[in-house]
Amino acid sequence: MALLKVRGLTKNFGGLAAVKELNFDVKEGEILGIIGPNGAGKSTVFNMICGSIKPTSGTLIFRKENITGLPPHQIARRGITRLFQGNVLFPQFTVVTNVLIGLHLHTHLGLFGFLFGSPSAHRREKALYAKSMEILQFVGLAGEAEKIASSQPHGNQRLLCLAIALAAEPKLLLLDEPVTGMNAEEVSSMLATIKTLRKKRGITSIVVEHNMKAVMGLCDRIVTISYGKKIAEGSPKKISSNPAVIEAYLGAEQDAS
Ligand SMILES: Nc1ncnc2c1ncn2[C@@H]1O[C@H](COP(=O)(O)OP(=O)(O)OP(=O)(O)O)[C@@H](O)[C@H]1O
Ligand SMILES: [Mg+2]
Repeated sequence: MALLKVRGLTKNFGGLAAVKELNFDVKEGEILGIIGPNGAGKSTVFNMICGSIKPTSGTLIFRKENITGLPPHQIARRGITRLFQGNVLFPQFTVVTNVLIGLHLHTHLGLFGFLFGSPSAHRREKALYAKSMEILQFVGLAGEAEKIASSQPHGNQRLLCLAIALAAEPKLLLLDEPVTGMNAEEVSSMLATIKTLRKKRGITSIVVEHNMKAVMGLCDRIVTISYGKKIAEGSPKKISSNPAVIEAYLGAEQDAS
């Protein structure tokens, strides 16, 4: 069953057509890759799915509901979460505190009380702390819980961003370049965690990534876009030997040189 249906999705920025008449489905439980050269429109697709920019035209159907043009908080409430780009929310706080804040933002249980210590907040805190530790365990960061977030290596900070995203209990996770800037070891632990999310929690993911080895090893299916248009769709094997895909990447390399 299609969890998300993208139909005729289009975004114009002034005279620039960043995304053109894009159609694809995301099936429940799959890991779908979106690839394409720099500026192809991948992040713009994510921005439209999570509501941070409104499509010029087209439709987004999530779990049979038309979510096109809804504001970001309403889309988040329906279970679509984007991995925080860049770094963690509160780098000067501990790893576990960042997840706790993520849980408070999601549950609306009073962030003020949590940060400034009202008695009722302290009672709730125990349960939320346990939940935060469970999430950290899941992404392999339980041992780092009491360390300061900013002192963690880059790979762990990205895993912490994933933990914060998980606090929102997503059904669909949008991962924009989740392994960019990571070393080989960090890449494999992030990829393993994304696969475990699907296996153990049934979370569906869309992954945008330039690291082709990572995309090919992770995704069930890949949509390729170039200049905002879909040029190919299929299994990693099919995509990697598709002449239009190869040409789009070679063309981009020539443009850059
Ligand atoms: N808010 C905006 N206003 C104007 N133009 C934009 C805006 N956001 C993106 N663009 C343009 O739309 C096109 C697609 O950008 P987008 O960021 O979606 O590409 P991308 O595929 O994510 O690229 P990359 O791989 O480099 O991240 C680019 O030409 C970009 O300059
Ligand atoms: Mg991008």
